[in-house]
Amino acid sequence: MRITKERFKTRNDVFDARTDRNIFELSSKGHFEEGTLSPVFIGKEANVFSAKTKEGKKIIIKIYRVNTCDFNRMYELLRMDPRYPKLNKNRRKVINSWASREYKNLHRARDAGVSVPTPYLIKENILLMEFIGDDKAADKLNISHDVDKKFFEKVVDNMKKLNKAKLVHGDLSPFNILVYHHEPVFIDFSQAMETDTMRYDEMLTRDIRNIAHFFNKIGISTTEEYIRKKILTK
Ligand SMILES: Nc1ncnc2c1ncn2[C@@H]1O[C@H](COP(=O)(O)OP(=O)(O)O)[C@@H](O)[C@H]1O
Ligand SMILES: [Mg+2]
Repeated sequence: MRITKERFKTRNDVFDARTDRNIFELSSKGHFEEGTLSPVFIGKEANVFSAKTKEGKKIIIKIYRVNTCDFNRMYELLRMDPRYPKLNKNRRKVINSWASREYKNLHRARDAGVSVPTPYLIKENILLMEFIGDDKAADKLNISHDVDKKFFEKVVDNMKKLNKAKLVHGDLSPFNILVYHHEPVFIDFSQAMETDTMRYDEMLTRDIRNIAHFFNKIGISTTEEYIRKKILTK
């Protein structure tokens, strides 16, 4: 199939030609059926789609936009990560590394038993992962009404497992936690850092504050101290 104007339009003209070619390549290799691509969310840096495999299984495709994201900020944050020692300030390379970090972080989190979507594949700025949801994508915690004290404890337990895996999420909030069959699923891991990097403490403190604030707001009372202690005691 040719890369036609029509196909570009369906994606609001957001992707550069190389990204479009990679989408086409991934679908021709059988990772998903291109005709089933359907938008789930348009974020600051990435567009998230769902698609179906030939067998009818849904997957998520997260595509970082090469032209319209703040690659200077990404560069500064990646520079602090010892996993990317030789990064130079090339827009495409920085964005690919940013996407690859999300893939690596998801793997590491998953291996440690954190509830996250299983990452399937990374191709430059395109990340394929498990679809969390049934017919439609699972609700985010900020709009879910299906949350109790037990759910809160599961969130803290996942934060603890993540810490044990020597990772800190860095943008943990009700917008990056999905609620699926009473279970929290953490998403959006591109900014997550290793715990022995400079910004670790600042990031952990912010994650704890966001979580404490949210649960207090919905009437499940807790404190930042309680969460921190739970996370950091062995
Ligand atoms: N694996 C997934 N399963 C279901 N929905 C997802 C998944 N990953 C992302 N989403 C949806 O896409 C939105 C944006 O994804 P996210 O990774 O948080 O990107 P952003 O960096 O734009 O915030 C999420 O809030 C969620 O609604
Ligand atoms: Mg997000």
